[in-house]
Amino acid sequence: MTAKISRRALFNAGLAGAGAIAAAGVGVPLGINWRGNPSAGVLLMSDHPLPRAYQRPLVTPPVLRPVRADGATDYYEVTQQVAQAEMLPGVRTPIWGYNGIFPGPTVISHSGRRTVVRHRNELPVPTVVHLHGGRTPPEFDGYPIDLVLPAGARDDSAWGGLASQMHGEINQGERTYEYPLDQRAATLWYHDHRMGFTGASVWRGLAGFHIVHDDEEAALGLPSGDHELPLMIADRAFAADGSMRYPALDPSMVEPGVQDRWVSGVMGDAILVNGVIWPYREVPAVRHRLRLLNASNSRRYRLALDPPPPGGGGLVQIGSDGGLLDRPIRHDAIEIAPAERFDVVVDFGRYRPGQTVDVVNELGSGGTRQVLRFRVGGRVADDSRIPAVLSSSETLAPGSVVAHREFRFRTGKVGDMTGWLTNGKPFDPHRFDAMPKLDTTETWTLQSDFHHPIHLHLVHFKVLARDGKAPTEFDAGWKDTVDLRPNEEVQLITRFSGYRGRYVLHCHNLEHEDMAMMSNFLTI
Ligand code: C2O
Ligand code: CU
Ligand code: CU
Repeated sequence: MTAKISRRALFNAGLAGAGAIAAAGVGVPLGINWRGNPSAGVLLMSDHPLPRAYQRPLVTPPVLRPVRADGATDYYEVTQQVAQAEMLPGVRTPIWGYNGIFPGPTVISHSGRRTVVRHRNELPVPTVVHLHGGRTPPEFDGYPIDLVLPAGARDDSAWGGLASQMHGEINQGERTYEYPLDQRAATLWYHDHRMGFTGASVWRGLAGFHIVHDDEEAALGLPSGDHELPLMIADRAFAADGSMRYPALDPSMVEPGVQDRWVSGVMGDAILVNGVIWPYREVPAVRHRLRLLNASNSRRYRLALDPPPPGGGGLVQIGSDGGLLDRPIRHDAIEIAPAERFDVVVDFGRYRPGQTVDVVNELGSGGTRQVLRFRVGGRVADDSRIPAVLSSSETLAPGSVVAHREFRFRTGKVGDMTGWLTNGKPFDPHRFDAMPKLDTTETWTLQSDFHHPIHLHLVHFKVLARDGKAPTEFDAGWKDTVDLRPNEEVQLITRFSGYRGRYVLHCHNLEHEDMAMMSNFLTI
């Protein structure tokens, strides 16, 4: 009971109005291995035996069909529901799914065409829907205390009542989100974002792809159709009864947080791609576009092709979080932190027909090294290309910078427990840590103690420097999430365009996010 009460203090700071929060830098959370843990979280083992790798085919989530459309808008409906999935052979695993599936259905939009999604909540807990990477007006961005209550619930008192006490928006049973999608072609994703419970809800299945196309991309001749695969990579652990294990402090999801051992993040021992544990895919020996998304709560990956194609450089990156790169970048391996997207082309024509090619995680070992197997089939005609110039995106002139801000992301005491702080403070929906002026450019310095994949809503940014030196080969293009490593300082530049209002920035290690590593900015 004490643990519960103190956890609650995580988010009560703003309410109480008291400065009950101790400064940062006190104590190191249990379970953190500060050095030599590039995967970032702490392993949670399955009690249920895991299947052999590469026995089940990859599935791609179904594309959601609009319920209607008019001149400028497509309208969709999604029901969030409890369902069962066969993740372990012959076993039914309860999930929470958009339309009852994990990943949720893929929404496909054309840039500039308004997409309206009505979500109905038939789950036992309140939810919030956020479109990650979307340039969305604040009222539709899925602010963490703007709840969609379970159908039939009248208020959030059964869940502690915190959101209504904090003047969050309380929607009964359903909520319509409107997305202008006035932005470049890119791989976006939607997921739950309820304050304090994002980790637990995404773990149970509340995540899906939302892909935006545009004319610039369509003119390039990139691999498409069956040769374009969205790949949602996520790790999970299973209990003896086949349900997904998650070390929530309060399984009824009234009090946020995870057990101390997992404060630095929860990692499973099974790697899933599109909801299937270690799947395989038969592919013809032609170019394929792989939209890689790390939807794991805390696990970082270093993805590589095993074996690499003759000559190397098998992962040709064409896009990042915010859409196409200006020019392709050839990688032997890609480091991907939670919420990051890498859009890559792999030419299976560089392999012999009949060969198997694994996507492996070089940061894992045993099962967590395995991700996905391709079985290369025969050669077929391939008229796809990777143009040398993909896009010519805007550049932000350093001379136009009007403000500079600094954010420090550190562990620290929140009340009497360990949590995660931004500039020494836990999340408070009513405190603004930055008020950028609309349509101005700023540089931000982000500084870390541990691995923190930092995500900004509303904007995309470019990484200018790491520890004063050049960014890494994984920082290219427009980003909305940047992979801060332990004791690192990252500088980024962004332009706050789009909409006025309140947005969050936060760590996308979902356990850090749930344990208060979130802050607000207000565009004015
Ligand atoms: Cu992917 Cu604020 O979230
Ligand atoms: Cu986001
Ligand atoms: Cu973090």
